[in-house]
Amino acid sequence: MLTNEMREALIQQAIYARQWAYAPYSEYEVGAAVLTDSGKIYDGVNIENAVYPLTMCAERVAMFKAVSQGEKSFTAIAVVTSNGGTPCGSCRQVMAEFGKDTVVLVADSHGKLVNEYTVADLLPDAFSEEDLHQS
Ligand code: THU
Repeated sequence: MLTNEMREALIQQAIYARQWAYAPYSEYEVGAAVLTDSGKIYDGVNIENAVYPLTMCAERVAMFKAVSQGEKSFTAIAVVTSNGGTPCGSCRQVMAEFGKDTVVLVADSHGKLVNEYTVADLLPDAFSEEDLHQS
């Protein structure tokens, strides 16, 4: 169960991590923090590159850090930007891989919760593992 205390802790962790965003091109800094079902928090930031398409979003950095430590199920992920921007389509697809019920908290840099969704809300009918089983 996701308590309000955990919501607040996740948002604060994403705000803290955001200081390390590497966004010299867009200057749009993003911080993320994901809570695993096992109770751990992994954070991430967006990491841009002079070759623009190589940029990686904060949500995927956080999730990939967690997955690379053996985590595969997530209770919630918080995303913090200056203005409460929502996760991009690629991040939604990566989130969907690991659970459609994961809660997505979208907050601004003051810690104000702007919106709360589930992954299924953000990406209905996501392409997933079952789609790979051809009939
Ligand atoms: N960005 C994220 O980190 N997450 C998103 O879901 C949307 C976009 C980053 C990528 C890029 O560094 C900057 O925000 C502007 O697109």
